[in-house]
Amino acid sequence: MEIKNSEFVVSSPVVSKCPDDNKPEYAFIGRSNVGKSSLINMLCNHKGLAKTSATPGKTLLINHFIINKEWYLVDLPGYGYARRSKSVQQKLQQMIMSYILQREQLINVFVLIDIRHEPQKIDVEFIDWLGQSNIPFSIVFTKADKLTASKISSNVNSYLEKLKETWEELPPYFVTSSEKCIGRDEILDYIEQINKK
Ligand code: GTP
Ligand code: MG
Repeated sequence: MEIKNSEFVVSSPVVSKCPDDNKPEYAFIGRSNVGKSSLINMLCNHKGLAKTSATPGKTLLINHFIINKEWYLVDLPGYGYARRSKSVQQKLQQMIMSYILQREQLINVFVLIDIRHEPQKIDVEFIDWLGQSNIPFSIVFTKADKLTASKISSNVNSYLEKLKETWEELPPYFVTSSEKCIGRDEILDYIEQINKK
């Protein structure tokens, strides 16, 4: 699929303030600094569309971007940034979870995982919560440019092994680098297939 047009629409603090035109949407979630905003920019081939930062905690609201005037990509705040106060962390978590549970036009959640790290409890718990809540999701391994091909495949395999401890059926997954533009076609084709259904 080609993205011909991508535009920022609105930043919302709560679900009730999100766009109400009922177009399908796809959201990106994961730990702070994992690369959610960078991935949106890479998919849209539009630097600066979503705001990125080397310091974790950049994205703090629910950000809607309209693609080809037909559907949305949604950039969410990250979870698990330890340097935030407990009350701010809880408020953000509440925002993310109510968005995911309440947003009827949400078609799929992409959970981003930094490919360099061992499975982290906070991510595995979040994935389990999505599964238990019957939310369709896929996994996106990010920052693949930081590892060799063999390390990528061994880290992906050990992640999938970890998920198999809980889940019989594994979710679709993608290996990406926003820096090197890896995984773009795969994710866009996946979205296109779902949009057609
Ligand atoms: P929050 O909004 O704070 O939750 O972060 P985020 O998940 O949106 O991360 P963001 O896209 O702002 O990127 C965080 C940092 O990681 C930035 O310094 C990016 O340049 C860097 N980064 C993101 N994707 C990649 C990638 O694929 N490769 C490399 N090498 N760096 C990346
Ligand atoms: Mg961000």
